[in-house]
Amino acid sequence: MSHLVVYDEVGNVLELLKEYETISKKLSDLGVRFERWKADNELSWDAGQEEVVKAYKEDIDRIIGEFGFKSLDVVSLTPENPKKDELRNMFLKEHTHSDFEVRFFVDGSGTFYLHIDDKVYVVFCEKGDFISVPANTKHWFDMGSKPFFKAIRFFLIPDGWVAQFTDSDISTKIPEHDEIAIL
Ligand SMILES: [Fe+2]
Repeated sequence: MSHLVVYDEVGNVLELLKEYETISKKLSDLGVRFERWKADNELSWDAGQEEVVKAYKEDIDRIIGEFGFKSLDVVSLTPENPKKDELRNMFLKEHTHSDFEVRFFVDGSGTFYLHIDDKVYVVFCEKGDFISVPANTKHWFDMGSKPFFKAIRFFLIPDGWVAQFTDSDISTKIPEHDEIAIL
C-alpha cells in the first residue's frame, strides 16, 4: 500500500501515515493532489499507451479538464534496463520545475520526496496512485535500485519538466526508495 512518511530536514521521522484518506488530506493541505484511480479493465504489463489511456479514460479526461494538460505520455522502466542507474540518478537530487510534475502509476512503484518549508514529505506511490507536485516545489524522485514502474506523465508547458537543481544535499539525508518501500 502507498504511504506517506514525514521527515525533518536531517532525516528524523515525524509521522508515518498509511491510510489513503489521511494521506490525501495531508497532501491536499500542501497543495499536492493525491488520488487513487481504478482501471476499467485489468491491464497487462505489455499494454501500450492507447490501451492504458482507454482503461483510465474517465479519470484522465477529468484531470485534463481540471488542469488543462496539453499532452501526456506513458513511460516504463524495469530492472533489466541497462541505463537504470543513470536514469535513477537524473531525478535523485533536489530540483524544481516550472510546470507541475504529474504522474499516475499504472504499475509498479516510485517515491516522491517533497521538500516543503522545513519538512520532507515522502510519498511512496504504487499502482493506482495519482500525484501532482505543484510547479516550483522543491522535490526529488527515487525509483529505487531495481526500478519497476509504468506511469502516465501529464504536461502543461512544453519542456516545463526540465529540472532546475537547487544544489542542496538534502536528498542524501532522507532514506532511499528501497528503504521507504518496506515501511
Ligand atoms: Fe521532478
